[in-house]
Amino acid sequence: MSPRLETEHLYKVFGRRTDDSVERLRQGADREELRADGTTAAVIDASVRVEAGEIFVVMGLSGSGKSTLLRTLNGLLEPTAGRVRFDGQDLGELTDRELRELRSKKISMVFQHFALFPHRSVRDNAAYGLAVQGVPRAERDRRAGEALALCGLAGWEDSWPDELSGGMQQRVGLARALATDADLLLMDESFSALDPLIRRDMQDQLLELQKTLKKTIVFITHDLNEAMRLGDRIAVMRDGRIVQTGTAEDILLRPADDYVASFTQDVDRSRVLTAAAVMDTDVQGDEADCGCATAAPGTPFTELCALSARLPHPVAVLDANDGVVGVVPRQRLVGFLAEEAGEPLECDGGRKVTARA
Ligand SMILES: Nc1ncnc2c1ncn2[C@@H]1O[C@H](COP(=O)(O)OP(=O)(O)OP(=O)(O)O)[C@@H](O)[C@H]1O
Ligand SMILES: [Mg+2]
Repeated sequence: MSPRLETEHLYKVFGRRTDDSVERLRQGADREELRADGTTAAVIDASVRVEAGEIFVVMGLSGSGKSTLLRTLNGLLEPTAGRVRFDGQDLGELTDRELRELRSKKISMVFQHFALFPHRSVRDNAAYGLAVQGVPRAERDRRAGEALALCGLAGWEDSWPDELSGGMQQRVGLARALATDADLLLMDESFSALDPLIRRDMQDQLLELQKTLKKTIVFITHDLNEAMRLGDRIAVMRDGRIVQTGTAEDILLRPADDYVASFTQDVDRSRVLTAAAVMDTDVQGDEADCGCATAAPGTPFTELCALSARLPHPVAVLDANDGVVGVVPRQRLVGFLAEEAGEPLECDGGRKVTARA
């Protein structure tokens, strides 16, 4: 099946003689060499495939090219080389008019600092995209109302933006994107300006909404914890290039290089890992069923720990047909919390400490 959205060897170079620069990049030149000539290679040879209904996160430090990549996805920026396809359609083959149509009907963008119109009500702000599309007043009010309710803002329709907190204003931005029925959402650091608690709240809300809406979402962030919470898959960018694409577990357990690994140091592993990632799959089939509680491959790490603490033996991991697919000895859990498990240390029984009962 072809993906919803796809880039193929995409380059975006700012400055002079950009074609020439792409050629040099293809031959192995890096960003710094080009910068000496006054050109910036914002995106270098980026190939991504975004499947329908997934949250695809692009993660990277400031300047790594995330926003530039995002802007090529809805045709706001034209690639210097390479292709962008949306539903199989090469954006480069569309006229400006067709691109504008695509942006107003099928693709919505949510930015970091959402600019609301201060002199329009919350409802009118949420309905803005529909007004641009020429949707009649009554329908636009109804759809904006629904989108606001989805974003937890029922009852605030007639308020002014400045009566809302920053987090609520950001929700209006999200509601505006949802109201248009666009099923591709491009979110550029949409939650980055929010306080940590509100930010978590928004992440939860987005995940909750996504369960029913099943939009295709490209979400940009520089925060790996956010990336791992939200992303079905994550692309890590460095200096214009995508250095790894994978699930949160891939990135955490199998980082492509030291650079990616360095990011994962601050990640709360217990929030990312599931039984499938930590279990020992080398199991024999004919174990006796002692009737104890068991886990599933998707059981979150924290739950697994709680389970393990209550069982006198390793936790059995069962698939949907109750077949044993793995076991998790307690020691393994501790090992996975550490960044590098390393070899077991030798012990000559020198200082053995037992807890008092
Ligand atoms: N219109 C432009 N003209 C020239 N250079 C640009 C332009 N837009 C972006 N750049 C450069 O391209 C590089 C990538 O920028 P981009 O905004 O895509 O990074 P980013 O990963 O989104 O960063 P941030 O996290 O700070 O938003 C930067 O070096 C930036 O200065
Ligand atoms: Mg950016």
